[in-house]
Amino acid sequence: MKKLAFLMVFAILFVSSPKGFAQEEEIIINSSLYPKHTMPLVRFPHMLHFDDLGYDCTECHHLYKNGENIWTDGDETSCQVCHNEPTVKNEKRLPPPQQKLNLKLSYHGLCIDCHRKYNHENNTKAAPITCQGCHTIKEGQ
Ligand code: HEC
Ligand code: HEC
Ligand code: HEC
Ligand code: HEC
Repeated sequence: MKKLAFLMVFAILFVSSPKGFAQEEEIIINSSLYPKHTMPLVRFPHMLHFDDLGYDCTECHHLYKNGENIWTDGDETSCQVCHNEPTVKNEKRLPPPQQKLNLKLSYHGLCIDCHRKYNHENNTKAAPITCQGCHTIKEGQ
């Protein structure tokens, strides 16, 4: 009986969770393109960025058509589906077309560029820009 009551509460909670907010609050970024990471993994407070900080989804997610970003909720979110070039050492020596596909440069280009700009414009250090500031989670932790 106890178990049934629990299941019913669970069913209600599940059904009533608001749609469109299925996104994870926090994501541990762990791209399978890297069979073994050379750095600790990165904790990404997803919701903080679009909820508290108020950035548009399309600040980070994109699907380009004729040079225009037409991404909408439901389109691809996994970066490595498109940015699938795996080099993590001397990646800046790759030819430019390869660099655009490089996963590490794509992440660093998105995350670090915005953080640096934000810190500079607001005279703060709130957005992490050091390796240890982002790569905080040892694999297996
Ligand atoms: C500051 C950058 C950023 C913003 C803003 C952002 N996202 Fe994301 N989102 C990411 C990254 C990075 C991932 C992880 C991608 C990966 O693992 O390949 C992700 C993953 C996702 C996922 C898949 C994982 C999950 O949590 O379900 C969905 C769905 C998603 N985002 C939807 C959205 C929507 C909808 C918005 C706007 C309300 C949004 N995102 C805003 C960067 C962002
Ligand atoms: C549907 C495929 C696709 C997905 C998914 C995708 N990208 Fe991209 N991304 C592109 C294309 C195409 C470009 C444009 C490259 C160009 O300028 O020719 C691009 C450009 C970029 C650029 C600018 C690169 C430059 O040198 O101008 C960054 C940074 C970037 N993506 C990061 C990300 C991140 C981080 C994610 C995951 C949150 C992501 N992308 C998901 C296809 C994708
Ligand atoms: C468009 C701008 C923008 C992008 C893109 C962005 N961030 Fe941020 N992020 C911020 C700002 C602004 C803050 C500082 C918030 C504050 O004032 O505490 C921040 C804070 C953070 C923090 C510290 C907050 C905490 O609670 O620990 C982490 C970690 C972080 N970002 C990770 C990432 C990662 C990883 C990516 C790329 C997947 C990313 N961010 C992309 C703007 C951005
Ligand atoms: C703003 C956050 C941020 C900062 C700062 C940052 N990184 Fe990253 N880095 C990421 C994210 C996100 C990924 C993608 C991880 C994945 O795809 O699993 C990544 C991927 C990598 C990778 C490829 C994956 C691996 O573990 O082999 C390397 C290497 C790396 N970063 C090194 C560095 C170094 C060195 C620094 C300091 C000079 C640094 N990063 C600073 C967010 C950051």
